[in-house]
Amino acid sequence: MAQKAVVRGCGSFLPEKVMTNAELATMVDTSDEWIRERTGIRERHIAGDDEKTSDLAAAAARAALAAAGMDANDIDLIVVATTTPDLTFPSTAAIVQAKLGIESGAAFDIQAVCTGFIYALSTAEKFLSSGQHKRALVIGAETFSRILNWEDRTTCVLFGDGAGAFVLEAQDESEANGRGVMNSYLRCDGRLVDLLYVDGGVSSTQSTGHVRMQGNKVFREAVNRISQAMEHVVDEAGIDVGDIDWFVPHQANERIINGVVKKLDLRPDQVISTIAGQGNTSAASIPLAYCAGVADGRIKNGDLVLIEGMGGGLTWGAALLRA
Ligand code: ACO
Repeated sequence: MAQKAVVRGCGSFLPEKVMTNAELATMVDTSDEWIRERTGIRERHIAGDDEKTSDLAAAAARAALAAAGMDANDIDLIVVATTTPDLTFPSTAAIVQAKLGIESGAAFDIQAVCTGFIYALSTAEKFLSSGQHKRALVIGAETFSRILNWEDRTTCVLFGDGAGAFVLEAQDESEANGRGVMNSYLRCDGRLVDLLYVDGGVSSTQSTGHVRMQGNKVFREAVNRISQAMEHVVDEAGIDVGDIDWFVPHQANERIINGVVKKLDLRPDQVISTIAGQGNTSAASIPLAYCAGVADGRIKNGDLVLIEGMGGGLTWGAALLRA
């Protein structure tokens, strides 16, 4: 019988160190006013020198397991979406598995930059609905600060570090009672690599490199591609966009989010936004925002939630789930 992948719990983690716009203005030629007006960002969290992506991911995973009332060894699949792995290999997921004390099951990373969590959720959902695995940790985790050029004001003001995690469980449709991931839509157009990339890597420069972005070109692509992905998942599920309870977007820019809200005729009070306090945490931003909505009581079991992401590749996508 078909299985549904139900979100049993979510958790998040943010590094303690906070960097405000005012602090950034002492480092590059920018201002709090410019950053707030152009992006909606006020501050972001920055990982300490001894904090790795796997540490952030494991902390978020522990919080998600606690929320689900599960033990780490209930998990038989770990999927980590990250652009900032601890090591070139093994996967950050393998390191997280060991940090959580999990002794069996599968673990791997997914790389789709800021769309990573949508790709990871969609992949894990397929593993669970097929019956191959029973309980998955799906984690978005980044130490994006490590690949920023802190002298480039066009990129360093935008990003932050953090992690968010879902515990997904395969349940029979009767047990799930309508809950679970309903569908997802993933896209990539590799011809647009030059709009947003890191100028280093294992087989090219043998160095890590720094983020390079043609921000205004990415911005111009964003609203249409994201809206089209959202409309696709809503249409495929046979529902009306007006039936959505919550919109949990990737937190890249408040103006992109507002553009999508306007285009799809959503209400601003349906948006879960964390951008002011976290900036763009890449693959971590969607689960971080989702967890914020659960923690403050907005997202409740049974609510219909639409999530979307867009990032380097370009990649983009959306997913619909009943909480
Ligand atoms: N402070 C002050 N001025 C700045 C700053 C800054 N931090 N950054 C750029 N400027 C200047 C530019 O130099 C330019 O000056 P000029 O007119 O003298 O040449 C001016 O501000 C306008 O620059 P634009 O790039 O046109 O500004 P825009 O309104 O497009 O905002 C931004 C820039 C915020 C980057 C926006 O384009 C954006 O959010 N783009 C999308 C980002 C995104 O979605 N990325 C995808 C996800 S990330 C991932 O996948 C890793």
